[in-house]
Amino acid sequence: MVRRIPKQLVRKGMYIETVECPTAEFSGRRFLVQSDETVRAILATSAAYAVVNIKKSTIDIDAALGTVPAVRIASMAEERKRATETVARAAVQLRESFGAVREGTLELERLGSVADDLSDRIDASPDVFLKVTRLKTKDEGTYVHSLAVSALMMQLARTLHYDESTVHELGVAGLLHDVGKLGIPNTILNKTGALDPEEKRLIRSHPEVGYQQLKDLGNVSDLALDICLHHHEMLDGSGYPEGLKAAQLAPEIRLATVCDVFEALTSARAYKKAWKTRDAVTWMFDRGHMFDKKLVIRLGSIFT
Ligand SMILES: [Fe+2]
Repeated sequence: MVRRIPKQLVRKGMYIETVECPTAEFSGRRFLVQSDETVRAILATSAAYAVVNIKKSTIDIDAALGTVPAVRIASMAEERKRATETVARAAVQLRESFGAVREGTLELERLGSVADDLSDRIDASPDVFLKVTRLKTKDEGTYVHSLAVSALMMQLARTLHYDESTVHELGVAGLLHDVGKLGIPNTILNKTGALDPEEKRLIRSHPEVGYQQLKDLGNVSDLALDICLHHHEMLDGSGYPEGLKAAQLAPEIRLATVCDVFEALTSARAYKKAWKTRDAVTWMFDRGHMFDKKLVIRLGSIFT
């Protein structure tokens, strides 16, 4: 399990997964902090945060950090109100946009501004944002899931230093990735018991259905089309619809998949409870070669 902490809290005995430097002074290095010199070297970087692996550390991280929260939020109540309003507004706009996709009349600019609003909120407080998006009703499930995935994709892409126009494009792709679910009845999407073969086939058809709808619009980017079609593919070839393997899956698709599954795990569904952020990250990390582990760690590091 990993925890993101301000660099000032780094101590000897902590195992560092990442020092989040914009200029990559510690690029790609994972190591145990063994000396005060290393602590000072981390303090001297341009990083604000470091990601610590709790299991691999040789000291008790919770005891070392005491009661100091990893990240302080100026006004949580205020941020929660803002996030709630943005999510409610975005869900309505997304419902209308999904309808427009079906009619063949989607205006992409509108989705772009929805993505920008979401990006601002997750950037202000990823934890508050995720809490708000967990509170979805059955009816708005697909919309709130999509906007949460969109925001997670943008935030994760930023930590990977994607340029802003690609971040924006990924945000729009996240909003649209599940558009093919629109034709599937909520009774099937929210079913608590086992799915029969026909219901399973219907659900598994949503990437291809959505891809075709978006392609027919003629103005959707190749990246968004690719993410829509392949967001259920796994690195080990166990996904669908094509059973592609790691070498065939672009980094942006891996990024979308990780955010999609993480969001599903951390949300309550009719058939399951919401998982804690840490549990979801650990579960995904331990899934053999299904997910890109580096991306899973990065995603976990966004949250306190
Ligand atoms: Fe999906």
